[in-house]
Amino acid sequence: MAAVATYYELVGGASSVREVVDRLYVVLLDDPDLKPYFADVELPKLKRHMAILLSSVLGGPEPYEGRELGEAHRGMGITEEHYAKVGDILVTVLRDAGADEDIVQHVVHTLGQVRGSIVEEPSEVAG
Ligand code: HEM
Repeated sequence: MAAVATYYELVGGASSVREVVDRLYVVLLDDPDLKPYFADVELPKLKRHMAILLSSVLGGPEPYEGRELGEAHRGMGITEEHYAKVGDILVTVLRDAGADEDIVQHVVHTLGQVRGSIVEEPSEVAG
C-alpha cells in the first residue's frame, strides 16, 4: 500500500520550501513598508528558521527550533495591515511555486492561528 504523501512532499520537499522562502524575502525586502522591519536582522538565520517552520507546517520532518513566534516578534509593533501583506506575499509565492489550493488553504488557516502572537497593533480603543 502506498504511503500518503504529506503536503511537504507534494510541494517538492526541502528544495522547494527553500525556494519559496528565498522568494518570500526577496519580495518582502523590496516592499518599502516591510523592509524597515528587517534592517538589523541576520537574514540567513531568519530564512533558515522560516524554512523549517514552513516545512513543519506542511508536515515535513525537521522540528522547528527557532523562538516561539510571540517572542520573536515582540516589540516590533507589527500592524494588522503589515501582517496581512506578509501573508498575502507568502500565499502568492506558494501559488507561483505550484502549490495546490488545499496546501495554500492549510497555510492560510495556520496564518490565522498565529496572527494573534505576531500582530501588536492595539485592537481596542482605551477607555
Ligand atoms: C505572517 C506570519 C509570520 C511568520 C510565520 C513569521 C515567522 C518568523 C520566524 C520563524 C522568525 C524567526 C524566529 C527566530 O529566528 O527565532 C521570524 C522573525 C522575524 N520576523 Fe516574522 N513571521 C511572520 C510575520 C512577520 C511580519 C508581518 C513581520 C514584519 C512586517 C515579521 C518580521 C520579522 C522580523 C524582523 C524577524 C527577525 C527577528 C529577529 O531576528 O530579531 N514577521 N518570523
